[in-house]
Amino acid sequence: MSKPVIKWVGGKRQLINDIKRLLPKKYNRYFEPFIGGGALFFDLKHTNAFINDYNPELTNLYKILRDNPQELMSDLDKHINESEYYYELRVLDRDVKKFKKLTLVERASRFIYLNKSGFNGLYRVNSKGECNVPFGKQKNPRYYDAKNIMSCSELLKDTEITTGDFENIKEHIKEGDFVYFDPPYVPLSETSSFTGYTDKGFDEDMQLRLRELCDYIEELGAYFMLSNSDTPYVKELYEGYKFHIVEATRSINSKASGRGKIKEVIVTNY
Ligand SMILES: C[S@@+](CC[C@H](N)C(=O)[O-])C[C@H]1O[C@@H](n2cnc3c(N)ncnc32)[C@H](O)[C@@H]1O
Repeated sequence: MSKPVIKWVGGKRQLINDIKRLLPKKYNRYFEPFIGGGALFFDLKHTNAFINDYNPELTNLYKILRDNPQELMSDLDKHINESEYYYELRVLDRDVKKFKKLTLVERASRFIYLNKSGFNGLYRVNSKGECNVPFGKQKNPRYYDAKNIMSCSELLKDTEITTGDFENIKEHIKEGDFVYFDPPYVPLSETSSFTGYTDKGFDEDMQLRLRELCDYIEELGAYFMLSNSDTPYVKELYEGYKFHIVEATRSINSKASGRGKIKEVIVTNY
């Protein structure tokens, strides 16, 4: 059994059972183009999968987990859970020259460290792509579980990893394949939008492009499943496909709605 190695906003751990219930009975290759923390991917343990994310620190982490798990763990052992050290590491991405000097293992290790020692497991960047999460003041964050690192590494050996826009997967999908989309959600209201995953945000044009990719998958004879917020816009966008309503407890959300249960939709073409 593998578990995500980082905490990720919008992580799908609590919806896994709903999602598994709604998977197609049979399919060939598994694709997840908005991999994030990869809750479903690590749970399903597919061989020959294809994962992608726009965030290069995240995809570098998965490549290092796959290719250099031992070096990654040794590097993680050097970190200290102190505010001054935290901000020294955080600030590195403000200086391109310094950042480029880090090895890819050091970058992956820094990413896990910031995620575990930062506030609430939140990874957020500003418009320049720089991490701006404050120190989290946790007592003893555990940076890794060796058994889990090795099991994730094993799973990833068989996985293709790309960095960039979700359309990266398009030319690789074939009839009978399955794609799980977990994009940044359509905001519930104007004020509750959370667009800090990347320096670009995820606007209406992107939501439309994503719908077009779903139509392409349908025409190809492949399967897709997509998570999103339960809003009239999403219903309109995916009209003609199947809707399943599920409930999730959101912990990182707009101030007003706090931590209550929120309805989400899962759209499928099967
Ligand atoms: C809701 S999160 C996915 C959460 C994931 N399912 C989990 O369990 O942790 C959305 C992800 O989409 C990525 N993203 C944002 N814009 C993107 C784009 N245009 N193409 C690909 N990935 C993108 C973000 O970096 C983020 O990791």
